[in-house]
Amino acid sequence: MRTRRLTASQIDEAALLLREGQLVAFGTETVYGLGADACNGEAVARIYQAKGRPSFNPLICHYASAMAAFCHVRPNALAERLAAKFWPGPLTLVLPRAPACPVSKLAAAGLPTLAVRVPGHALAHDLLAAFGGPVAAPSANRSGHISPTRPEHVLEDLDGRISAVLDCGPCPVGVESTVLDLSGETPTLLRPGGVAAEDIAAEIGPLRHGAPPGAALASPGLLASHYAPALPVRLNAEVLQPGEALLAFGAPLPGARTIFQLSARRDVIEAAANLFEGLHELDAKAAVLGLTGIAVQPIPELGIGLAINDRLTRASAPKT
Ligand code: TXA
Ligand code: MG
Repeated sequence: MRTRRLTASQIDEAALLLREGQLVAFGTETVYGLGADACNGEAVARIYQAKGRPSFNPLICHYASAMAAFCHVRPNALAERLAAKFWPGPLTLVLPRAPACPVSKLAAAGLPTLAVRVPGHALAHDLLAAFGGPVAAPSANRSGHISPTRPEHVLEDLDGRISAVLDCGPCPVGVESTVLDLSGETPTLLRPGGVAAEDIAAEIGPLRHGAPPGAALASPGLLASHYAPALPVRLNAEVLQPGEALLAFGAPLPGARTIFQLSARRDVIEAAANLFEGLHELDAKAAVLGLTGIAVQPIPELGIGLAINDRLTRASAPKT
């Protein structure tokens, strides 16, 4: 795949690529983001694949307006206040998902919350408006590399791995957005960034500071058994045990109480897109069907298969 470099006059083409489920990097005021249709699970899976990330981190969903963002989460008074003050701009708010939120579960790595932000860059805004829906976008770099602030940086890292990069010029802020968790009792700063913590505190009062930047456990998505299903998970199953549900990959093993198919055609991208849906669905059926656990058929340790197995290993870890 050749990565196309698109200019401001080609925003409609960039929006079309997103609609087709392809990856398009675009500039924001903070850093370049690697964008995909947030409601398309397979498109979101391609983000993790392109970044070469061996685990699923929850991603930020980008919106053209606060009104659009607040349709997909449940804003509280503090969120309304901060949005009015700092959006569009380099602030990301973590809020509970709205009941009918259409964003793929994979985008938030299975969490019941969603990180939303309205970027303050004119071209990013125009792209989001032309696309007409949420765009999930982590920074547009390979995993472990530094965040890109120019289209050239994006191409150095991702040329040939994504469909296009929309040239939005150099990013004026140059550091990532501030991530603030408003889903709990106390507003918690998860990542310092483009909006100063003091300026947020001046609006809504004191903040709790989460884990320091760069700490391995800064994001709840990385805690070993966080949001693990209630049922025990058993990997690489060859034979089913009584009462087990099956998370199938390819032709299902015989004898399951119930089956959730990750990918009949053994496609790891499709399996990643369905993973959290499957875990939630089987967990929800546990009591009704008297399930004893979830058995998972072997998934190849290739590409995003690594991230799937990483996630399932965490789900099978003893609860802490
Ligand atoms: O400036 C930015 O925020 C850039 C541009 C592209 O918008 N994006 C960015 O994304 O830096 P990323 O994926 O590199 O960082 C997202 C951060 C991670 O620390 C992640 O753990 C946190 O946001 N995050 C996302 N969703 C979350 C959630 N539901 N709960 C807690 N943390 C979340
Ligand atoms: Mg990043």
